[in-house]
Amino acid sequence: MLFFFFILLGLFNSILSLDNGLGKTPQMGWNSWNHFGCNINETVIRQTADALIATGLAKAGYNYINVDDCWASSRDPQTKFIIPDPNGFPSGMASLADYVHSRGLLFGLYSDAGISTCAGRPGSYGYEEIDAHIYAQWKVDYLKYDNCNSKPTNKTIKERYERMRDALNHTGRPIFYSACEWGEMLPALWFRSVANSWRTTPDIIDTWLSMLFNIDINDLFADYAAPHGFNDPDMLEIGNGGMTLNEYRTHMSLWSIAKSPLLIGCDVRNISKESLEILTNSEVIAVNQDPLGVQGKKIRIDLDHDTEIWAGPLVDGSKVVITFNRADNIADKILVLFTDLGWNSTTTVNIRDLWLHKDLGEFKGNYTAYNIESHGVQMLKMTPVML
Ligand SMILES: *[C@@H]1O[C@H](CO)[C@@H](O)[C@H](O)[C@H]1NC(C)=O
Ligand SMILES: *[C@@H]1O[C@H](CO)[C@@H](O)[C@H](O)[C@H]1NC(C)=O
Ligand SMILES: *[C@@H]1O[C@H](CO)[C@@H](O)[C@H](O)[C@H]1NC(C)=O
Ligand SMILES: *[C@@H]1O[C@H](CO)[C@@H](O)[C@H](O)[C@H]1NC(C)=O
Ligand SMILES: *[C@@H]1O[C@H](CO)[C@@H](O)[C@H](O)[C@H]1NC(C)=O
Ligand SMILES: *[C@@H]1O[C@H](CO)[C@@H](O)[C@H](O)[C@H]1NC(C)=O
Repeated sequence: MLFFFFILLGLFNSILSLDNGLGKTPQMGWNSWNHFGCNINETVIRQTADALIATGLAKAGYNYINVDDCWASSRDPQTKFIIPDPNGFPSGMASLADYVHSRGLLFGLYSDAGISTCAGRPGSYGYEEIDAHIYAQWKVDYLKYDNCNSKPTNKTIKERYERMRDALNHTGRPIFYSACEWGEMLPALWFRSVANSWRTTPDIIDTWLSMLFNIDINDLFADYAAPHGFNDPDMLEIGNGGMTLNEYRTHMSLWSIAKSPLLIGCDVRNISKESLEILTNSEVIAVNQDPLGVQGKKIRIDLDHDTEIWAGPLVDGSKVVITFNRADNIADKILVLFTDLGWNSTTTVNIRDLWLHKDLGEFKGNYTAYNIESHGVQMLKMTPVML
């Protein structure tokens, strides 16, 4: 009986997931948009590839270099092939992809499921097969697919995003497919068969409130994340300057526990030591990249204190727990009851602080995080002691 159950479960999963072999864990890398917007060119992309290696970010797992909007300028009137902007990208995208690959990294591009991109460059609608073919020829590894200027197509999101999915598949090259329809059609509920990740939210901006807005919405869809298909509350703002280091540490903690893509959005050529420390914390990254791929979520909200507890399971049977003080001005303490984590009041666990890289000892039944500063977190790994 059990055997048949697992066969059925297996079938179910393979039908559901996009079958390109990619996205077993959330994607990690860098994207040009949050810092540079449209002001990009091949020099800045090459320097960023170099910087990812020089800073140790590549070694920490950030391996995609993704060029966002504004790399394309027009279509060849005869062949309809997409033409890179001759000012910013005079050497062409194949040469840029080669450079990125020569540094041991992967190369991503951006397009749009409408008639033009958000910045008014040519969209892929109606040209999906031609564009996908060219991407594969250029050895592109990743496509972020936006949703601007799609009204004139009169086509649904489903139809437009599936057309590009199929076009990418027809190239025979595994290309990570990152869908960006801003959560409009609740993609978490049905994009598993369409893309490797799907945006659940509007664009992030570099403020505390925008970061919270996005991760709170994203949390509603926690149960739909799994290997090969993850919720995407948008890219990281760490290093861009709009939040405090404490808030950026919270940003990194929440994105990691939520199995969100970790796509750096700052100028890594000029990154501060403090931002680098946040982005390269190997114990926090290990939570994000845990092979179980289960999205951690809010398990307790204390409205009086404006505090929350987030938690999720890890592959080794332990749990990751975040004690989060959302309050604007005061430090607070947060009590974690092990019964809230699926254990019981006599369970004894070892607790490790992932930001301090420090074992805090054994705790029975509960744990209190003391003095969590305003907008701050403690990020903990809790492992039951086998008695
Ligand atoms: C294309 O789709 C088929 C069927 O889902 C799958 O087996 C194959 O691996 C896919 N190929 C690529 C390159 O994504
Ligand atoms: C390339 O882009 C960077 C970042 O916007 C800019 O500082 C630089 O001047 C640009 N270089 C060229 C040659 O356009
Ligand atoms: C979309 O629909 C409008 C109004 O129904 C029509 O005028 C237009 O030609 C349609 N566009 C396409 C690309 O089919
Ligand atoms: C480098 O970063 C510092 C702050 O960390 C900033 O003041 C400076 O303007 C940046 N330089 C460039 C070239 O972006
Ligand atoms: C509590 O959990 C421990 C394991 O963590 C288990 O050995 C014990 O039987 C449980 N006690 C109750 C009352 O469920
Ligand atoms: C927390 O655990 C301690 C010792 O294990 C116990 O004395 C205390 O009553 C517990 N507190 C709560 C609120 O359960």
